[in-house]
Amino acid sequence: MMNPMVWQLNRLKDLHPTPEVQAFHPGVVQPVQEYHATLPGYRFTPLHPLSTLARHWNLGGLFIKDESSRFGLNAFKSLGGTYAVAKYLSRTLDHGQPLTTHTLTSPGTRQRSLTFATATDGNHGVGIAWAAHQFGHQSIVFMPRGTAAARVQSVRAAGGQAEVTAFNYDDTVAWVAAEAAERGWVLVQDTSWPGYQEIPLWIMQGYTTLIYEALQQLQDFGVKRPTHVFLQAGVGSFAAAVTGFLANVFASAIPLIIVVEPTQTASLLRSATVGDGQLHSLEGPMQTVMAGLACGAPNPLAWDILQHWVGMFLSCPDEMAARGTRILANPLAGDPAVISGESGSVTLGVLSHIMASPLAQTLRQSLDLNEQSQVLLVSTEGMTDPVLYRRLVWDGLFPYDAS
Ligand SMILES: Cc1ncc(COP(=O)(O)O)c(C=O)c1O
Repeated sequence: MMNPMVWQLNRLKDLHPTPEVQAFHPGVVQPVQEYHATLPGYRFTPLHPLSTLARHWNLGGLFIKDESSRFGLNAFKSLGGTYAVAKYLSRTLDHGQPLTTHTLTSPGTRQRSLTFATATDGNHGVGIAWAAHQFGHQSIVFMPRGTAAARVQSVRAAGGQAEVTAFNYDDTVAWVAAEAAERGWVLVQDTSWPGYQEIPLWIMQGYTTLIYEALQQLQDFGVKRPTHVFLQAGVGSFAAAVTGFLANVFASAIPLIIVVEPTQTASLLRSATVGDGQLHSLEGPMQTVMAGLACGAPNPLAWDILQHWVGMFLSCPDEMAARGTRILANPLAGDPAVISGESGSVTLGVLSHIMASPLAQTLRQSLDLNEQSQVLLVSTEGMTDPVLYRRLVWDGLFPYDAS
């Protein structure tokens, strides 16, 4: 039996433009896009219309932003890591020049060799390793126990030193933070805590390039504003960055945002359910097939945005991610195939359940998903663990059971 999908309308939503939200104003984050555009291999990642599937589910439109080709690194995460590393280097150099690959690789920047350190399920570490390597510095990347060999290998292939710890993700973060302080490494972590906010904010601002591109691409399809945006969350930085940008662009007409987490690690859903405005973390082994979302301690900076602007928090079992991966790999006639890993495909899996399962009728209605809806999803990763991917798509691991 599948675990049920659990959801909570966000009672804290008040569209409050906090300073945290203003940090994602298009004017504020314009330098991020300008910087990314200077990186080798930068181009918009594709936004695929899934028109046949949209018709099948009686939706006005369905679009998925495919991040598997981002800088050739198989996930969106490098957008944040490279921006944070660049900002850090630029500030250390204090050269007052615009942030470009050219200024950051000039001989003056190499006078001192730095080591950038991070904890990661994989994708963020690949981005940090790649960015440090690009600018001629070192990186050391720590990954939770049980990390798939392919993910460790991807960090090494991007030029980083990769180590697997004996801890879960949250404990690995705490451990690396302590080690970095002792050893003089520059910690580039994609989550914040009191006293450590500047770098996580840069990372989050780095993610906005993705939604900036998506809104432009939607316009090309005649869609001025998506009505629904599903965002998957681990620590919540990605969801908050996209939400913050959309809040600034659309204000009170912000699309309905649905944040999706794995059942076992749904700390944002838990926080929304308690509803006291505080974060309520989860602890434990974080056992989910969605490696990128396996975190129980959310980013407080992200929560400051999400709690004011998200419409619904929702948790789902691994079967939804597996189903999303299979649907995207086997499209209906006329739609493109999208290769999407478990953390990338989960929102499509969730949408498939909402649109087709009799069990989800109330949820479907309360979300107002119908022929007027223009739904935006982000496939945040490609096939980052090929062995698992084939077990899902070829062998039918985690079969879906709608009953
Ligand atoms: C593929 C993928 N999608 C989504 C996320 C979620 O991002 P966040 O941890 O910022 O919520 C991650 C995080 O590592 C990821 O790797």
